[in-house]
Amino acid sequence: MKTTLVLAMTADGKIADVTKSPPTFGSDRDYAHMVEQILLADVVLVGSGTLLDGNESSEVREPDRALIQARIDRGQTPQPPQIICSRSGKIDPQLPFFSQPIERWLLTTKKGSLDWIERASFGRVLVCETADGSDIDWQAVKVKLAELGVENICFLGGSELAASLFAADFIDELWLTICPFIYGGSAAPSPVSGVGFTSDLAPRLRLLSVDRVEQELFLHYQVEKKSEDIPPT
Ligand SMILES: NC(=O)c1ccc[n+]([C@@H]2O[C@H](COP(=O)([O-])OP(=O)(O)OC[C@H]3O[C@@H](n4cnc5c(N)ncnc54)[C@H](OP(=O)(O)O)[C@@H]3O)[C@@H](O)[C@H]2O)c1
Repeated sequence: MKTTLVLAMTADGKIADVTKSPPTFGSDRDYAHMVEQILLADVVLVGSGTLLDGNESSEVREPDRALIQARIDRGQTPQPPQIICSRSGKIDPQLPFFSQPIERWLLTTKKGSLDWIERASFGRVLVCETADGSDIDWQAVKVKLAELGVENICFLGGSELAASLFAADFIDELWLTICPFIYGGSAAPSPVSGVGFTSDLAPRLRLLSVDRVEQELFLHYQVEKKSEDIPPT
């Protein structure tokens, strides 16, 4: 299974402004890049906070016909299911997300699933929890998604979910677009929040490619697995 995190940030390392409104700093090229990553994936996974902050899910509105046709040829739906990740399951059913013409799944704990199993809002409710029921068991997620035929997962943030995924050593690749803006503000989120890593435990990246397109940089990294030997610098 391949797992890819796709994010865009300002030149000062912010993925949203201090109001946490949906990011508008990416160019059309960056949008096309995100669409490509979405359409290459079997499922898309996003944190519930990203929906709460006013984002709709990343429904592909200007589809790349060739990529959609390739999905159909592979026997897939034109757009991948969007999985919302929430421990608590506390998600407002009135959010615009629930009116979007996409397949919706929920990844949560047993407790978080209670409000949703009787409703039709999510096509699937996946429960993969740790032994004490307080968190998601990411190894169990891998097993469950593999059973459903998932081979490629595209993560679209936000920063808290990204922190959980890095902590669980669950990300194989990172696409990071650097956009020509400065947002500032300590309350504005960076790509990865959570409790942070000490320098000796920080995930390490290998730069696979850099593309400059007009004013933006598209960085493609491989995430070194914790079990791998880290080469000396
Ligand atoms: N620039 C970009 O590329 C980009 C991309 C995405 C988002 N954003 C921005 O990022 C901000 C949102 O980021 P965020 O950090 O506030 O929220 P987030 O990461 O999208 O969502 C946080 C929520 O996800 C759930 N979650 C996180 N880790 C989990 C885990 N291990 N297990 C189960 N559930 C987990 C929790 O849901 P519950 O509390 O419901 O349990 C948590 O409250 C928004 O401003 C958005 O616009 C920017």
